Amino acid sequence: MKVLMVCLGNICRSPLAEGILRSKLLKSGIAIDVDSAGVSDYHTGEQPDKRAIEVADEFGVDISSQRARKVQDQDFTEFDLILAMDKAVLEDLQFITQSIDVTSDIELFLNYSGLQDPVDVPDPYYGGHQGFVDVYKLIENACERIMDRWQMMDVGS
Ligand code: 4NP
Repeated sequence: MKVLMVCLGNICRSPLAEGILRSKLLKSGIAIDVDSAGVSDYHTGEQPDKRAIEVADEFGVDISSQRARKVQDQDFTEFDLILAMDKAVLEDLQFITQSIDVTSDIELFLNYSGLQDPVDVPDPYYGGHQGFVDVYKLIENACERIMDRWQMMDVGS
């Protein structure tokens, strides 16, 4: 099973989701691959945002070796599950997939996790440190629910 986390820039939300979920999977011995990407190429090749790296580090997760990339056509056949951080990203993915082969399930990250409110992971890019802490906690809570879901479905064992 392969999962792709997608946000706009691939420097704030989806790198956190990738790092948090990978760290939890490793601790649980569940064999699921996680990657992340952005629907834009604004930050291709860059490290995650400094604030995202700092906040993840405060919670014991190292995301500093990640590098931003844009989603590519083959992602939609390579990954089993693609999770969008907000509705705008989901709409971009739905637009892209109108004209290419798709085998992935594409869903909203928080909806897939079972959280009803909020629907979107807020974009912390224009805020401060606390915004990143809040987003970290939201993503971590969602990742725990996703892990519970996979353990119930016996995925990755
Ligand atoms: P992300 O946050 O989508 O969570 O990585 C953003 C990063 C960069 C920009 C917007 C959102 N930007 O406009 O450059």
